[in-house]
Amino acid sequence: MKFFIDTANLAEIKEANDLGVLDGVTTNPSLMAKEGITGRENILKHYVDICNIVDGPVSAEVISTNFEGMVEEGEHLASLHPNIVVKIPMIKDGIKAIKYFSNKGIKTNCTLVFSAGQAILAAKAGATYLSPFIGRLDDISTNGLDLIAQIRDIYDNYLYDTQILAASVRHTMHIINCAEIGADVMTGPLNVIMGLLKHPLTDSGLEKFLADFAKGNA
Ligand code: E4P
Repeated sequence: MKFFIDTANLAEIKEANDLGVLDGVTTNPSLMAKEGITGRENILKHYVDICNIVDGPVSAEVISTNFEGMVEEGEHLASLHPNIVVKIPMIKDGIKAIKYFSNKGIKTNCTLVFSAGQAILAAKAGATYLSPFIGRLDDISTNGLDLIAQIRDIYDNYLYDTQILAASVRHTMHIINCAEIGADVMTGPLNVIMGLLKHPLTDSGLEKFLADFAKGNA
């Protein structure tokens, strides 16, 4: 399973990249705003800054909600760097835009996905990535992981190329369960990725090894 980091924070992106296991980055307008990145030129420059840190796909989301606007915005975003993936919302004009970009060989990430029906439409339109938001489904008492499993079955039935990118990941068990189900990618915050490192037996075991070494080499 590929690991993307879900943030627009450059320091966090660097830290995850330095670990050596990072495959890409996802952003969204809320994450950009959280970092105080505003204004068209600053936003475009920030995407390039991210691409200069990570050698992998970087999702940049369009703001337009009509076909023409998404095409214009997406083509400009894609021209910024070869690693840019145009992130497009799961709406009617979004599906048309995904089909348009697919025909042109421009990579897309279909975002705000909450149902299997939406997943089928995005795959048929040729989306490169599909982002089901598992945490937001959990928030409304619906099991987000069940949706990942359902989409995995459907995509395997028809050998769709679209990669399942589990998004809105909130904790380490989301990552582990997504890997068990067979999600192609997960995107999560830095603290959740780093949470995978933790085990009390690792900490106590290492403490004992170092103490024993110190005794023998005093
Ligand atoms: C990723 O592409 C999404 O924008 C993101 O995972 C949403 O996460 P949230 O539900 O924690 O905002």
